[in-house]
Amino acid sequence: MSQTIAHKTLDGPALESLGPVTSEEARLLEKLDLTRLPRHVAVIMDGNGRWAQKRHLPRIAGHRQGTQSARTTIETCARLKIEALTLYAFSVENWRRPKTEIDFLMQLLREYLKKEMPLLQKNAIRMRFLGRIHELPAAVQKDVREAMEKTAGNKGMVLCVALNYGGRAEIVDALNAVLREQNGSAAPSQVSEERISRHLYTEGLPDPDLLIRTSGEMRVSNFLLWQIAYAEIFVTETLWPDFNRARLLEALVEFQKRERRYGGIREGHPNTEKPARVAGE
Ligand code: FPP
Repeated sequence: MSQTIAHKTLDGPALESLGPVTSEEARLLEKLDLTRLPRHVAVIMDGNGRWAQKRHLPRIAGHRQGTQSARTTIETCARLKIEALTLYAFSVENWRRPKTEIDFLMQLLREYLKKEMPLLQKNAIRMRFLGRIHELPAAVQKDVREAMEKTAGNKGMVLCVALNYGGRAEIVDALNAVLREQNGSAAPSQVSEERISRHLYTEGLPDPDLLIRTSGEMRVSNFLLWQIAYAEIFVTETLWPDFNRARLLEALVEFQKRERRYGGIREGHPNTEKPARVAGE
């Protein structure tokens, strides 16, 4: 991190676990209400190529630097006790990139899973992978399976890596699973939101309440289309390799400024016990 370390550790177990913070981070942490953090943060990590281009480096240098931002984001979210973090690492559309770049990204992920296993274990992180994993190269599938197995008993944050992921493909997969479940059943078929959610790759996780996208693009890029129905969207101009802890805290502070109404007129999700009062009531 390039900023001056102020060596200020704020009070409270969650903040203490962040260790030394910069003066900028300390200012942001003071504004953050730890009781109102998002339960699930999803991130579109964009801008690796542009980061490299600005430095006259090959695109892959941007991806490599991007793993540092992934590390910081994962560790900070885990220490703040956020329930789930989803990182968009490789989309179904990314197969259109040059083979050398695809091979590099797959290799980088494999290296990452090996190198970062101690960090994942130390922070009690449980790994999940979202996407058509069975279509990935066999070696990647093996590493993905191993990472899930090694962290299966962890009770901390769930880290989801979206890999060969597409939001539309996920909905198609969910509906096909519903159809398979229906076969052989005499009961009349009924699809409900709950039933579809149960067959999504994110089954059992809360929907993301905060979606962060780096590098300034105003698109959702086929990411968690079903799950982001009520998410707050935070777009920063920062390119992913420059996304540090202060930028993450900034996104969390911004999230807490938003008034979440879910179509009603005050806080309260339509699917929770706390009902939203609807306009006109
Ligand atoms: C988007 O930047 C980034 C990706 C397609 C890959 C993201 C992968 C990583 C950050 C590394 C591995 C991640 C993990 C979880 C270990 P881009 O190439 O589209 O950038 P550009 O829009 O500037 O060209």
